[in-house]
Amino acid sequence: MATEKKSDGNSSENAMWGGRFASGPDAIMEEINASIDFDQKFYAQDIAGSRAHAAMLHEQGILSSADHAAIDAGLSTISLEIESGEFKFSRALEDIHMNIESRLAELIGPAAGRLHTARSRNDQVALDFRMWVRDQTDAAQVALRAFIKVLLAKAEAHADTVMPGFTHLQSAQPVTFGHHCLAYVEMMARDLSRFEDARERMNECPLGAAALAGTSFNIDRHATAKALGFREPTRNSLDSVADRDFALEFLSAASICATHLTRLAEEIVIWSTPQFGFVQLSDKFSTGSSIMPQKKNPDAAELVRGKGGRINGALIGLLTVMKGLPMTYSKDMQEDKEGVFDAADTLELCLSAMTGMVDDMTINAENMEAAAGSGFATATDLADWLVREVGIPFREAHHVTGRAVAMAESKGCELAELDLVDLQQLHEGITEAVFDVLTVQASVASRVSFGGTAPANVRSQVAAWRKRLD
Ligand code: ARG
Repeated sequence: MATEKKSDGNSSENAMWGGRFASGPDAIMEEINASIDFDQKFYAQDIAGSRAHAAMLHEQGILSSADHAAIDAGLSTISLEIESGEFKFSRALEDIHMNIESRLAELIGPAAGRLHTARSRNDQVALDFRMWVRDQTDAAQVALRAFIKVLLAKAEAHADTVMPGFTHLQSAQPVTFGHHCLAYVEMMARDLSRFEDARERMNECPLGAAALAGTSFNIDRHATAKALGFREPTRNSLDSVADRDFALEFLSAASICATHLTRLAEEIVIWSTPQFGFVQLSDKFSTGSSIMPQKKNPDAAELVRGKGGRINGALIGLLTVMKGLPMTYSKDMQEDKEGVFDAADTLELCLSAMTGMVDDMTINAENMEAAAGSGFATATDLADWLVREVGIPFREAHHVTGRAVAMAESKGCELAELDLVDLQQLHEGITEAVFDVLTVQASVASRVSFGGTAPANVRSQVAAWRKRLD
């Protein structure tokens, strides 16, 4: 969509409010004031809003049938012109609202001037932006569902695959890779519900609040709300034009989601190093080095990790724009859009990239399992076994186990490789049966508490999530 970059400065007065103005704006004024370069993005919402408004005005006897028909036809022509790229956007006409209204006047003449009855750009922009953000919350939900499905497939395929579970990025206890994937399913599902909640709250229609106080015309706000897919009209005209919390909620849901993505991205970066060797990214989601032929870099994961910063930045940016603004509309609020546009595109890109990357990623189960078995990862299992089978208090079991770890360390072996007689020196109650819990498979299989990592739990959680998502 091409925008005519500059008008000729102050040579002509503005057609929309020319009555009070003797000259047009300075070129710099036009530069700082115009939003058309970016708000043309919601032309479709603007036109849909205008059509619903015109239909309502006609229904209420405020607009004649002839004028309504001309306005409606003119708006659909404009829609086609914009879609085909032939529409000429002008900075002199500031924003999408006035660009469209001015073109409507060219197309149908003075009747165009009746469209703005009982409406202001303040409720118009609040409406357009809200509808655009509402569409984005829907798109985010679709993308999240697709990602969750891929995570569930990986979880199911790797319900039994053992990997080290980490705290402080130090091996802590063995877990299943399926369980690890399901941790992200939980996060993504909460993100999904945050978008659902935000959508529910934003789904009230501000159209008809007019400039800030409502209107003296007998409009039907319930009709326009319904026509535009809103649950109901907003209840307070001042609030309707003054707040952008719907965009803030979108951005905060997007930021939390993006932050979750950065954590998985970081893990993929770590897992795909030759040192870890837990996963291999497909060629489709990695890049080579121009100088080091052996390298395969996880650029997509790194970019998701990086782009999280951009989305968080958009949230902080809009919070800062809105902070301290007096009721109701101030032009500061024109700065609400670009960050949200960028964050929405970025989130969608990050979700698609992660979906593709995880879907295509190869899991090196042997490497994961070998790593899971190293570093005395089953020490807690030994302590638990002493409590359960020998009947000693956990504190004492912890102490005995600590000595077993020290013994294994000095012998340069793993816990499962210690001799029974050596273990019995630490506590006479230890029997051959202890070796059943010292393997990583036995360890994970025993974690059957609700929410635990056992393969059986992973399978039932995958099934439960699939059911919930349908
Ligand atoms: N372009 C403006 C914006 O994005 C539209 C609303 C203008 N309203 C006004 N009173 N100047 O915020």
